[in-house]
Amino acid sequence: MNQILRNRHRQGAMASLFVLLLPIFFPSLFAPLSHASPSVFLEWNAPKPRHMRLIKSALQRETSNAQQTDLWLPLENQGWSSCVEPPKAPEKSQGYIQVFLDGGLNQQRMGDDVSIVKELPDEFSWSTREYYATAIRATRIKTAPVHASANWYIENVLPVVQSYGIAAIAPFSHRLAFDNLPMELQRLRCKVNFQALVFVPHIRALGDALVSRLRYPSDENKAFDNGYLQKVTGRQHKQRGGKFVVLHLRFDKDMAAHSACDFGGGKAEKLALAKYRQVMWQGRVLNSQFTDEELRSQGRCPLTPEEIGLLLAALGFNNNTRLYLASHKVYGGEARISTLRKLFPLMEDKKSLASSEERAQIKGKASLLAAVDYYVSMHSDIFISASPGNMHNALVGHRTYENLKTIRPNMALLGQLFLNKSMEWPELQEAVVEGHANRQGQIRLRKPNQSIYTYPAPDCMCSS
Ligand SMILES: *[C@@H]1O[C@H](CO)[C@@H](O)[C@H](O)[C@H]1NC(C)=O
Ligand SMILES: *[C@@H]1O[C@H](CO)[C@@H](O)[C@H](O)[C@H]1NC(C)=O
Ligand SMILES: *[C@@H]1O[C@H](CO)[C@@H](O)[C@H](O)[C@H]1NC(C)=O
Repeated sequence: MNQILRNRHRQGAMASLFVLLLPIFFPSLFAPLSHASPSVFLEWNAPKPRHMRLIKSALQRETSNAQQTDLWLPLENQGWSSCVEPPKAPEKSQGYIQVFLDGGLNQQRMGDDVSIVKELPDEFSWSTREYYATAIRATRIKTAPVHASANWYIENVLPVVQSYGIAAIAPFSHRLAFDNLPMELQRLRCKVNFQALVFVPHIRALGDALVSRLRYPSDENKAFDNGYLQKVTGRQHKQRGGKFVVLHLRFDKDMAAHSACDFGGGKAEKLALAKYRQVMWQGRVLNSQFTDEELRSQGRCPLTPEEIGLLLAALGFNNNTRLYLASHKVYGGEARISTLRKLFPLMEDKKSLASSEERAQIKGKASLLAAVDYYVSMHSDIFISASPGNMHNALVGHRTYENLKTIRPNMALLGQLFLNKSMEWPELQEAVVEGHANRQGQIRLRKPNQSIYTYPAPDCMCSS
């Protein structure tokens, strides 16, 4: 798919580039690495819970009303809010910037700042992927460095746009620095990522249906008649209905193997993961120099569904908690998820909430699956991601921008707690609650070189 950006002025020419930096539209960043072969489960002795004693206590946990109220309370106003007021663009176009995308970027709205066209006017119809594939062309910008300065574009791209009326930039991803940019460009970038982002109608409709079924489970759940999507779409969910938490969990084979940690599947699993590591990364996985214990205490092992269940239970989520599982494949499948499900019997996912007809449009399309999960995650009362990565970063940033509660697991703390085999439930609970008091969405200011999409303050947000 081609997206062509029609630019109206010098800064506009720059700004429009950022439209396409939206990290969430690069499906490959979301999907479990697509080269992962379908898991072969011969390596399995179904993994058993590793923290049986704690699980037993967690199953009997009781939470007070006060604790529940606290847990579900929205974040209080932290005095930071969006301060994005981008420049008004002049009327006259200076030319086109063209980028070629393979992902699911279907619709963008930039309002007054940059106009986006799906097709070039006839005079530029020669400017195609094929045209650039066959020879060196003057209108192709091939050398945009990763994290380039704004001046780089003014010096290298603008002259091409001025001479030819078009510049085609490829490759195009992460091509602009986060620091030392003119404020108005930075703000425009914020606007693109946090405000102009709109999903195509069928993603919104499915997302709204899922959110509605999570908030109103009894009256409407499993009413999958054809008119359903229309019925729920117009409704205001935000203030009414039950609350729910979204858990983004990425525990696939790539992740498990790459971490070089031991996940309790016994010798067979260890061997299988080591072999997988060898095939995929030929010894380039640094973690494999460390012992499992070292990795865990440094917080470098992905949490298993079981451990995430313990984390959530220790934080105070009770067995009435409506949990939406936003994830793709889990290494070990149901065998690994069952412990989490025991702790949270009201756990749902796309499959349990939507009919196969409803899911047909997004089936097998990683970017669309991710878009639906992103949408539902943005509409949840609480979001928790147990897997570092692009989805995590994008949601943490966007929810910070909207001042929404987002729990960031303290991996090192949890690693250490779970290593202690004599840990008792009350101590675990206390340590977990204390260790996450400051990890619920409190503003963290961006440091140099960090992404504005993960840390929107202070570039996209102002303190009042
Ligand atoms: C939920 O937890 C309570 C309190 O521990 C327990 O009595 C009840 O049986 C649990 N319900 C389910 C469905 O597990
Ligand atoms: C392990 O947990 C127990 C019980 O909470 C505690 O008394 C002990 O100090 C812990 N051990 C380590 C090494 O942290
Ligand atoms: C930021 O990144 C640039 C380029 O990679 C590097 O030269 C610079 O030292 C980094 N600055 C900080 C504060 O890490």
